[in-house]
Amino acid sequence: MIKALYTVISGMFLFMTVAAQQIIPLPQKMTAGKGAFIINAATTIQAPQELESEAGILQQEIQMITGNQLAIEKKASGKNAIILVKTKEQAPAESYRLDISATGVTISAADHTGIFYGCMSLLQLLPAQDWKSDMAAAPVNIPSINVTDFPRFKWRGLMLDLSRTFMSPDYIKRTIRRMAFYKLNVLHLHLTDDQGWRIPINGYPLLAEKATTFDPSFHEPKEFQGYYTVADIQDLNNYAKQMHVDLVPEIESPGHSHAALFAYPDLSCSGNIAPIFPFFSGDGVTRDVFCVGNPGSAKFFRTAITETAAMFPSRYIHLGGDEVPRTEWEQCPKCQALVKSAKLDNTGALQGYFMQQLRDQAVKEGKRPVAWDEILHDNKSLTKDWVIMSWTGSKPGMEAAAKGYDVVMTPTSHMYFDYTYNSINTKKVFEFDPFSGNQDENVTRHILGIQANFWSHIDRTQARIDAQLFPRLLALAERAWSSADDKDYEKFNTRKMYHRNWLKYMDVKYYRGDFK
Ligand code: ACM
Ligand code: ZN
Repeated sequence: MIKALYTVISGMFLFMTVAAQQIIPLPQKMTAGKGAFIINAATTIQAPQELESEAGILQQEIQMITGNQLAIEKKASGKNAIILVKTKEQAPAESYRLDISATGVTISAADHTGIFYGCMSLLQLLPAQDWKSDMAAAPVNIPSINVTDFPRFKWRGLMLDLSRTFMSPDYIKRTIRRMAFYKLNVLHLHLTDDQGWRIPINGYPLLAEKATTFDPSFHEPKEFQGYYTVADIQDLNNYAKQMHVDLVPEIESPGHSHAALFAYPDLSCSGNIAPIFPFFSGDGVTRDVFCVGNPGSAKFFRTAITETAAMFPSRYIHLGGDEVPRTEWEQCPKCQALVKSAKLDNTGALQGYFMQQLRDQAVKEGKRPVAWDEILHDNKSLTKDWVIMSWTGSKPGMEAAAKGYDVVMTPTSHMYFDYTYNSINTKKVFEFDPFSGNQDENVTRHILGIQANFWSHIDRTQARIDAQLFPRLLALAERAWSSADDKDYEKFNTRKMYHRNWLKYMDVKYYRGDFK
């Protein structure tokens, strides 16, 4: 009797610890129950028509993880079932409940994203093992548990630099899936920069023709160059929608624009633009920028913004604004004439003047503009609808938040995933404080979230990009989603170690040095 009781209690304890170790990002609230639900070949997924997409993804993943092909039923009979329920309750956006007992599983949420995230948590409670494509169907136990969960931040992001290195649509899709598994919801696509302009714009055919490949003299691999067709983007949008990831496009202006200026040199101050070179063959930040004294430059960006806004359904459009040297503007008669006619304080103020025009176009297209933090400099007329991406540190972002700007924190100190693990390891990402110690709710409510930036000038192959992103993205996901009280790195690390199997499942070539 005592031995039997011991077995039951230790069994419960095992379920509790296993469950608690399993979910990344750590849910807001979890209570372990008794016993386990068993998924077998007769288990069904019961979901109304409107949750067809989420039910289909759950079905597919369960099959890949366990080998069991579950039928999807539209009616809820409740027996041996995983039931998805869209509730009419008031609940925080993206929140969900996941209730697992010996008799069944229920995922309930007020929005589709919440249902999807309930499904992701459920998947993470399945046994993580080395996945095989010929997995035989076998019953699997899921520990009983009640999870109530919601995100700390609404912006849980990653930026991929697609200009320094073109990444295939297939790789972008795989990244979207991996993000979704960890409840990351914003993929910021850095589509234009000195090394390439990666989407077609009607009215500017030379972009696709001349601004998407490196000069042949550099013998750059073919796969690192090119552009996304409208069909590619549509396909990415469809996939991202299913995965509840928002694709935020970035059109850089008025600097970091060498590739576009190579196609349209008349829009530069000098009119003389060298062929497109790989990052390490140049100066890092090129001195050529758009000539803002030439009305053609604003026209170019107005068109690019309209077209990009039509291609991507996101509410946001990023307009760049970082690292804009003033050297060319200082020497350009057209730019200097504009400083006078617009009654600007100095040459530097041209940037804010120009970007505010682009903001007007974005707003006209129904979008909210985003920019890097330098947009706050020399800019007296910056409207409060800009979202500031604080990359030069956390300080500009905290100052902007105090002034009432919404902010995404992406400081080089913690969030630059092109940096080595020696300078930013997973623990450092986990320990990032998005509020810099500030407790003032009037300030912190403007911090929309956090984002990792991956610049692709050093690590360029898929395997190396994977290693730069993983496992650091797991720590970012936890910091972006979980409670601020979740501070114990050792506990996170135990879960991270367990997730090595899930990374293998998703074929991630993660950085091994952080799994020792
Ligand atoms: C940046 O890293 N220049 C935004
Ligand atoms: Zn000029």
